Amino acid sequence: MIRVSNISKSFGSKNILRNIDLEIESGKTTCIIGKSGSGKSVLIKQIVGLLEPDEGDIFVDNQKVIDLQRKELFKLREKMGYVFQGSALFDSYNVFENIVLGLYERGNRDFEYMENEAIRVLSAVQLLPEIEEVGKEKFQKEWEILKAKMPSDLSGGMKKRVGLARALVGEPEYIFYDEPTTGLDPVTSEQIDELILQIQKKLKVTSIVITHDLFSVYRIADKVAVLHDCNKIFEGNVDEFKNSDIPAIREFQERYKK
Ligand SMILES: Nc1ncnc2c1ncn2[C@@H]1O[C@H](COP(=O)(O)OP(=O)(O)OP(=O)(O)O)[C@@H](O)[C@H]1O
Ligand SMILES: [Mg+2]
Repeated sequence: MIRVSNISKSFGSKNILRNIDLEIESGKTTCIIGKSGSGKSVLIKQIVGLLEPDEGDIFVDNQKVIDLQRKELFKLREKMGYVFQGSALFDSYNVFENIVLGLYERGNRDFEYMENEAIRVLSAVQLLPEIEEVGKEKFQKEWEILKAKMPSDLSGGMKKRVGLARALVGEPEYIFYDEPTTGLDPVTSEQIDELILQIQKKLKVTSIVITHDLFSVYRIADKVAVLHDCNKIFEGNVDEFKNSDIPAIREFQERYKK
């Protein structure tokens, strides 16, 4: 379980988050929404230990993230998959290298394992066909083509899938998605949401999804948290969110009806 306890964060004189409490339930999907600049990415970065809160604590599996030594933090990060905002693939690395870079950095040199893992995660996001359906030869051909592709050869939707696949390496217990559908057309967004649901079902992961997309929230969320003016103004299930009479939430929902 993840527990965010009373955290505050500023950059210089600018307050970003103030006294935020949040419970992330195990095995569930929590969506975090809020305007651009409301501190959603900053919140996730603190949970994974990339940024430190000015005040307050974050607990993951009952460990206080801020107290962890480098080595322990890396150990914890192995349980976490992070789908970065905007995919954040390395432009000069091909798909295979992008996928296994994390394993390589952790000292893994078992090429066969890396290749099997890359195939597993790229199949999970449906960038590779089922071997049973197309046969071994065709599968191998498709794999050879895909693994050598550079990010510049990929469409926006494919990049998001590779970003998703990269987060699945090593079968994490926690997955953090930072705007996985932003910039995609509605059909592709729905496919990505479908994948998030499948991953959730199959791997029983605990997920946090930052999104601007209300349709995504309704499709994937078990729970919703809303950040607004440095505060968490709402935390509840989807029905409670739909029926909320908090003005900022009503306004957000109204915009989607137009
Ligand atoms: N490392 C940093 N140093 C200084 N300011 C930062 C840093 N990271 C984020 N900020 C600022 O903190 C605020 C919140 O940023 P954050 O990226 O969390 O917003 P967000 O809610 O994720 O927005 P978006 O929806 O546009 O991604 C912004 O004003 C941003 O400029
Ligand atoms: Mg962000």
